[in-house]
Amino acid sequence: MYNLPGPKSRELWDKDIEFVISGRTNIADSLPLVFEKGEGVYIFDVDGNKYIDFSAGILTASTGHCHPVLVDKLKKQIEKLWHVYAFPTPDRADLCRNLSRHMPKGIDTFAFYCEGSITVEAALRAASSFTKRWSYAAMTHAYHGRTLMTRSLGAHLLPKEFGPSVQVSRLHYPDCYRCPLKLRHPECGLACIEASTDLLQGSSTEPLAAVIFEPIAGAGGIIVPPQGAWKRLAEICREKDMLIISDEVLTGVGRTGKFLAIEHFDVEPDITTFGKGLGSGFPVMVAAGKKEIMNANPYGAAGGGGSSTSFGGNPLSVAAAEGTLEVIEAEGLIRNAEERAGKYRSGRRTGQRSTQPWGCEEWGCSGESIW
Ligand SMILES: Cc1ncc(COP(=O)(O)O)c(C=O)c1O
Repeated sequence: MYNLPGPKSRELWDKDIEFVISGRTNIADSLPLVFEKGEGVYIFDVDGNKYIDFSAGILTASTGHCHPVLVDKLKKQIEKLWHVYAFPTPDRADLCRNLSRHMPKGIDTFAFYCEGSITVEAALRAASSFTKRWSYAAMTHAYHGRTLMTRSLGAHLLPKEFGPSVQVSRLHYPDCYRCPLKLRHPECGLACIEASTDLLQGSSTEPLAAVIFEPIAGAGGIIVPPQGAWKRLAEICREKDMLIISDEVLTGVGRTGKFLAIEHFDVEPDITTFGKGLGSGFPVMVAAGKKEIMNANPYGAAGGGGSSTSFGGNPLSVAAAEGTLEVIEAEGLIRNAEERAGKYRSGRRTGQRSTQPWGCEEWGCSGESIW
């Protein structure tokens, strides 16, 4: 068990590296294992070693690997129909109805994609179509993907060798552990967010279409903002007629004890993106928003191709998403996430339900790291 990788992994890894690029991300490059089977929380390599998959397939295996409900749904679908491009299929509207039960007020229109970056790009196209504005604000610590625009919105992935990025107005992520202004919450009065007014004013000559943020920062360092921060940012942006885009590719589908993490912060976004956990590992992502925004011309105009994608919303991914929602509900996984969070926060294993809301005060944001 401790002599990893085993001989079969080593052999297959060497075979793979002949043809596949070497930068498989630091997670894979750090241990050359070759996996062949997953079952619940476990994953097995080709040498028969069994692991607990703490990465959960990079936060996608929300119901575990190969949950029997999903296996059954996918088997049934695979015998019927795999793909029809944008046409409706019998189950797509049901999935949307099911999803809309989990959406913030006003969010009732859905577009399906396969990758997070492409979904964020779609959200931006919808926002620009609606506002007729083309510039955006994003946060420090942000991660929204690796296409040119999503990389530009992100705060970390801009090696100059990739060429110029798109100009973005950069706002402070409300990070109380490493306060960008070296202040302490709550005495700071959310100064980092209050600074957004000046930052927005000073950083763009054009009016901005929207601000995009992760309600809990993910790849840029797991950061839980203080209560009130997103609400205040939303107020500042609304005064400028900017839309609010909550990127929940990582935090959505129940990971934080609510279907969407923004629900912890009492903010109603105009558009949200989510999906890492929606297909339990099967690629399905969603851009969801208010109907008048999502249907704006040209992004959502009838007869146009502004939202088009080759594989989005195909019947197999719809089946996987339906299966995931069914399991999440039947097994109480969102409540489970909330209860686990409560236990970790309190440092106890009492089985009691958490009574505390999210927010950096509860995490000891005045100096201790809880991560
Ligand atoms: C918040 C957020 N947005 C977008 C993305 C990009 O998703 P993808 O890697 O599927 O393009 C990620 C990926 O981790 C993410 O965490």
